[in-house]
Amino acid sequence: MNTELGSFAVLILAAGRGARMHSRKPKVLQPLLEEPVVYYPLKAVRDAGLKNISLLVGFGGEQVEAYLGKEWPQVGVIWQKEQLGTAHAVKAAQEWWRKFEHVMVLSGDVPLIQAGTLSDLVDKHLRAASQCSFISFLMDDPSGYSRVVRRADGAVRIIEDKDAVEEELAIHEINSGVYIFDTESLSAVIEKIGWANALGEYNITEAVALIGETEGDVNIVVCDDRSELLGVNTPNDLAATAEVLNRRIISWHMRNGLKCMDPRTTWVGPRVELGPDVFIEPGAQIWGKSAIASGVRIGAYSVLRDVTIDQDAVVLGPSVISNSHIGKNAEIGPFAALRGETEVCDSAKVGRFVEVKKSRIGTGSKVPHLSYIGDAVIGEETNIGAGTITCNYDGQNKHRTTIGARCFVGSDTMFVAPVSMGDEAHTAAGSVITKDVPEGALAISRARQDNVANWSGRVKIEGKEKKGIEEN
Ligand code: UD1
Ligand code: CA
Repeated sequence: MNTELGSFAVLILAAGRGARMHSRKPKVLQPLLEEPVVYYPLKAVRDAGLKNISLLVGFGGEQVEAYLGKEWPQVGVIWQKEQLGTAHAVKAAQEWWRKFEHVMVLSGDVPLIQAGTLSDLVDKHLRAASQCSFISFLMDDPSGYSRVVRRADGAVRIIEDKDAVEEELAIHEINSGVYIFDTESLSAVIEKIGWANALGEYNITEAVALIGETEGDVNIVVCDDRSELLGVNTPNDLAATAEVLNRRIISWHMRNGLKCMDPRTTWVGPRVELGPDVFIEPGAQIWGKSAIASGVRIGAYSVLRDVTIDQDAVVLGPSVISNSHIGKNAEIGPFAALRGETEVCDSAKVGRFVEVKKSRIGTGSKVPHLSYIGDAVIGEETNIGAGTITCNYDGQNKHRTTIGARCFVGSDTMFVAPVSMGDEAHTAAGSVITKDVPEGALAISRARQDNVANWSGRVKIEGKEKKGIEEN
């Protein structure tokens, strides 16, 4: 089987504009669970074990090419400068696919297609030794879709909705737009396809009847999960497809041990990894290449993107975490915001209303309340008092703050970076730290307190006006 897959080329059509999306972005790059639409058919093709893949680009092609270069460098790019229809599109890539024995053609806008469905089509195409195979499905309401016309003599034709006559419009069997052609047969007929139809386009659907007439057998594979073949053409389609995909992803994780209180309000991206016994509360979102280890709890309305979390850590919701790593048994939130390569080490705590950027919070250390920690390194078992801020930005550059192990930072300390503090050092509450604090020292940097005796008595004698207070 695997050797046979080498004889297949896969051409994904993605040159069309997708006008109904009303967007400057090409349709195949519209985000769907935060990945471009085309990510999904590419993944299905790859998971089916198919290797020789090219994407046909046109409208917004530079953007599509840039995405592929970054995320799918093994996928080829073929240009179709003018979009004159799907047959014109397939022809634009002929120089490439004619070198293979078979070519699979599908659209870049069918994100729900599954690898198993593509493998099944490959198997059946090979077993039937046919010159053309394609997937069809049955729709209760077929209006708007192209129909599969099966004639009594066995001949097959695909007719677009706009070109269909009355008895054809009554057919419920629909063309999925996923085909495999024997490349010699396709080459023999592709020149014969004309544009005399309602839209004046060259349609690859015509190749099916032409191959049946002159080249050999056409094999139809009926797919029973019609949701797999829903195309994304409008913003409404994007939302509907996202819902189906999300449900599919979450049920897959639940089959592997995820506990999810409310799958309807939870969102999990396709590249997320979740260990068994991860527990997700309602309204949480996990995106990007996040990897969450077993026993972790993700609190309600938290948003995580490109985050790795080790065993048994807890994120109390809502918290917003991106591009960061959380160690074992750590506790984050509620209302914490972590970003920019932050590392929270094992058993550390980042609490309520704390923002941490590009910093390392050492093992067992705590930043429990109302702080900003940016460009800082904090050693282990250090306690950072409420309201502490690392003043990392001087208006031009960012500077580092280094705080040692087992330190005690008093509440409302301002660290004016660059500055550092040795192990076991302390700061007094309300201090503005502008000089390094040596190991074991206590830094106090604030105005000394004066108490004016009998103040309230004096205010009363001098009259009821607030004047006395203002003069002070
Ligand atoms: C197409 C099929 C239809 C099938 C449906 C399934 C044709 C004529 N119709 O209709 O039978 O039921 O898919 O989803 O093939 N494209 C190009 N270059 C072009 C034109 C289109 O690359 O010149 C690409 C589009 O970007 C898109 C795909 O081909 O990814 C299909 O084109 P689209 O216009 O969406 O065709 P449908 O009307 O969906
Ligand atoms: Ca389409």
